[in-house]
Amino acid sequence: MTRGLALWSNASRAARTATTSAATRSPNFTAHREATLILNAQFDPRNVTLEPEYYGDCDMPRFLERKPLLWLWYMFDKSPAGLNLDFGFKFRRALAPFIFKKVGKNFKCFPFVEFTFGYNLEVGDDVVFHRWVFIDDRFTVKIGNHTSLSDYVNVYSHTHDINCRYFVSNLPTIIGNNCRVTYHSTVLAGTKMADNSMLGALGLLTRETRSDAVYVGIPAKKVKDKDPRHHCRPGDHPDETIT
Ligand SMILES: CC(C)(COP(=O)(O)OP(=O)(O)OC[C@H]1O[C@@H](n2cnc3c(N)ncnc32)[C@H](O)[C@@H]1OP(=O)(O)O)[C@@H](O)C(=O)NCCC(=O)NCCS
Repeated sequence: MTRGLALWSNASRAARTATTSAATRSPNFTAHREATLILNAQFDPRNVTLEPEYYGDCDMPRFLERKPLLWLWYMFDKSPAGLNLDFGFKFRRALAPFIFKKVGKNFKCFPFVEFTFGYNLEVGDDVVFHRWVFIDDRFTVKIGNHTSLSDYVNVYSHTHDINCRYFVSNLPTIIGNNCRVTYHSTVLAGTKMADNSMLGALGLLTRETRSDAVYVGIPAKKVKDKDPRHHCRPGDHPDETIT
């Protein structure tokens, strides 16, 4: 916090110096140098606080090991290189093993995905996270093999007492193998998706799903059975390429 304030006070001083000195002497090397230092300082995670640092249940040594990599991940996503999908998949695949508790092969992650701690997240093989997914791994979150989370999906592992918001319950959230959590849906803390089940667009999962079934709505209810003979695997369909 103190460091953040110092940063901003330096920034405003540099801006003032730049304005006054520009009129009196040119070029203003001091102001330029200070402005560059401040610009660079914003990319240094030591000058930044992230939400987990306000949580009482954050295992700070484990989080601080990951924080520079999380900050790199988030800043990369906001850079032109982060929007380059092919390079982005490879870059995030390289970072993930150092952030998550576990990650399998062929992990594929689109831009703008965020996590809470990172260290409570277990990800299987051939898992895809689409844009703007948020995974709240304050407690265990397990995601099975061949599962995909579509754009804007939220997965939670904590909840607050309805009477007193300061009481937090952390509950494991398990999403099985070959599941699909589709656009804009939310998986609440402590729920479990059985293998090969699906949560429809905008759905809210408050309990467990049965395997080979489709759930929709708020709260999500079963509307259909899937055909278990038609489990698909990556590369089964020519329109879906796997990097
Ligand atoms: C859940 C879903 C797969 C169902 O598709 P479907 O098999 O064609 O099912 P139907 O359209 O026959 O729907 C069955 C019933 O559920 C309802 N329903 C379907 N999707 C729903 C949803 N997301 N929310 C609420 N109700 C839904 C239908 O209106 C229908 O109700 P009715 O029987 O009373 O008429 C689809 O609607 C969906 O949500 N797809 C998400 C696609 C997606 O995000 N893909 C991710 C790509 S990255």
